[in-house]
Amino acid sequence: MKGIILAGGAGSRLYPLTLVASKQLQPVYDKPMIYHPLTTLIEGGIREICLVSTPIDLPRFRQLLGDGSRMGISIEYREQARPEGIAQAFLIAESFIGNDAVALILGDNIFHGADFASAFGHFERGATIFGYQVLDPERYGVVEFDGSGKAASIEEKPATPKSNYAVPGLYIYDNDVVAIVKNLKPSARGELEITAVNMEYLTRGTLRVEKLHRGMAWLDAGTSTSLHDASAYVQTIEKRTGIKVGCPEEAAYHRGFLSISQFEEIANAMPCCEYRSYLQSVVKQVGRTN
Ligand code: G1P
Repeated sequence: MKGIILAGGAGSRLYPLTLVASKQLQPVYDKPMIYHPLTTLIEGGIREICLVSTPIDLPRFRQLLGDGSRMGISIEYREQARPEGIAQAFLIAESFIGNDAVALILGDNIFHGADFASAFGHFERGATIFGYQVLDPERYGVVEFDGSGKAASIEEKPATPKSNYAVPGLYIYDNDVVAIVKNLKPSARGELEITAVNMEYLTRGTLRVEKLHRGMAWLDAGTSTSLHDASAYVQTIEKRTGIKVGCPEEAAYHRGFLSISQFEEIANAMPCCEYRSYLQSVVKQVGRTN
């Protein structure tokens, strides 16, 4: 399965923070926001990734992540010239997707405590999306379940939500998604809507909605308040456990994308900083347990 990270948008809700650095490059406590969705894909076993962003921001992401080899993965970059919807990413990345299935994750979505390895690894056909209970579903795509627990409807930012289950920005599709998006008409706001893609799979009877368990965290960091909340969350977990949240190098090592000696070399090449000390402590711990 291939992976796409969409890190587009003008970030206008975070202005003036986003005047010179895009939303997904803003710090979430001790790391750039984009490290979180990147780590989610790596933890789930995806190592071929395409990052889609604006022509202005793309060079910065390239500077940050390079070709991905530092994280045992490959990263390609594609431009979204205009913000014409999340679903447009599948058209932009068509040649990258080829004949494969694909997972799309939004660059401002942070997942903690969820394991998507089986959702990615066992995926066969149709679409898999997720539902997560929130207090303010009207800010999101909202999924309604019928009596048997199957998805009955999905609405984008409804004024009167039919449930409290928001659809997080992580979507898994079979290769039909490219043709589906090609047939979509832009919405009233001029965008190719991801909810319209999900509706198409729902109509075909091939949409699976998995409820995320309440013990995990899904945060988005698209406003200054939610960005601050996400930072506080990451800091709390890291201070309590001593384990970093959203560390792609560590995830790549645990996934077997980097050997322990590659991992150690990568850590040692970093300037002296807390992040490097953390990676070096992981190496030491491995040495102790082996
Ligand atoms: C987008 C999607 C929405 C989804 C959300 C998740 O909203 O349109 O369906 O629930 O991402 O973060 P946006 O962030 O563009 O407001």
